[in-house]
Amino acid sequence: MTDKATLILDGTEYEFPVVEGTEGEVGIQGTSLRGDSGAIFLDPGYGSTGSCTSEITFINGEEGVLRYRGYPIEELAEEASFEEVIHLLLEGHLPNRSELSALRDRLARHAHLSEDTIEVLQALPPQAHPMSILQTVVSSLGTIYNDDDEETAMYRLLGKMKALGAAIYRRRIGEPYLTSDPDLSYAGDFAHLAFGSPTGGSEVSEVVETALNQLLILHADHEQNCSASTSRMVGSARSDVYASVSAAVGALSGPLHGGANQKVIEMLHEIHESDKDVDTFIEKAKDKSDDFRLMGFGHRVYKNFDPRAKILKNSANDLLDELGQDDPYLEIARQLEQTALNEEYFTKRRLYPNVDFYSGTVYYALDIPTDMFTVMFALGRLPGWIAQRKEMLDEEQRIHRPRQVYVGENERHVEPIEQRD
Ligand code: CMC
Repeated sequence: MTDKATLILDGTEYEFPVVEGTEGEVGIQGTSLRGDSGAIFLDPGYGSTGSCTSEITFINGEEGVLRYRGYPIEELAEEASFEEVIHLLLEGHLPNRSELSALRDRLARHAHLSEDTIEVLQALPPQAHPMSILQTVVSSLGTIYNDDDEETAMYRLLGKMKALGAAIYRRRIGEPYLTSDPDLSYAGDFAHLAFGSPTGGSEVSEVVETALNQLLILHADHEQNCSASTSRMVGSARSDVYASVSAAVGALSGPLHGGANQKVIEMLHEIHESDKDVDTFIEKAKDKSDDFRLMGFGHRVYKNFDPRAKILKNSANDLLDELGQDDPYLEIARQLEQTALNEEYFTKRRLYPNVDFYSGTVYYALDIPTDMFTVMFALGRLPGWIAQRKEMLDEEQRIHRPRQVYVGENERHVEPIEQRD
């Protein structure tokens, strides 16, 4: 690959260094463009704009490849614990035994919700969406722990998030909050905090713990997506970890991002309840005059199967078998996928199931309420948000401040109100 790119603008040539990543991805380092030429690159939605170089996550969307720090997602989902993945994302390598035990101790030290935090939670309207509650409580941690240094805040949040997710769930179902058990894995402790009995004696089932562990790992990072970029953007102003993460939770809640997992199950429910067949909904998704989109389908980066969806499709099957459940939604999801993948509309645009397409069926099998699905995504994504922010700060990146091309009115002057149309 050549090491320079040339741009000709208005007859003048500008040269830019070319950066090549370890997997052969190519970027043109355009930082000097505005200073040298006065022009900027215009790329709404950032489809062709790299905001950073990163060593954390690699995606090859054409081939359906996803790796955290070089490790294929399939291997991690099969063989790692979520705690190991947290260490991997934050520290760059899988932990040895003593590193893992130090991390587990650290997370356990922060796994309780203080009285203040419970009070904030209790003050919020019970009918509010769990993602709004999560965002508010995460942001309130910045008021309670306002003296935290960067590292303490990172681990405090990682420790507390599962207790917080579980408390939001328990409040919703009207059950008392439980205390974290330091002997359990991250996934097991979440299951205990969310589904355990206040009188004790309810052991966390291994099937549930394994399924949760895998879900958390599959969601742990996904390079420069909307919420991770938000975490970096907010952090670039040197705002604290709580501000970065609460903003990222807000970004994730949107239906085009993490909120899609809730929308998928609502869509499957609508199909199940209606007297129309799957083909009718596929036709609606193709119809440009109809707002309906096939939720859980399509991705900015994957133009092939999302490898997370492949893993989840199989896990959903296995989980339902193990739990002895029959889930009508999984069958509808399979039919939708099959029908869509035989339609030119979807193949031409290279729209495949994404992670959210099958995750809902797994959450559903685990008895997690629909509007809690995106909170589960947030629990998994937290180490990614923190690792992305950490990498940005370690590199001392400048404040993120995109430019624009102004296309509004030229200068004009205030007229007296009676002269205005
Ligand atoms: N159903 C029907 N048509 C679709 C869909 C869909 N789910 N997704 C994309 N298209 C069409 C779109 O209308 C456009 O068609 P045309 O070229 O004729 O205008 C074309 O495909 C390209 O779509 P786009 O909206 O320009 O693509 P994007 O990269 O901006 O958006 C997306 C990606 C994920 C927001 C979009 O595919 C979508 O809205 N999918 C449904 C929501 C969803 O599942 N989101 C979860 C994403 S994965 C997990 C996460 O990030 O949290």
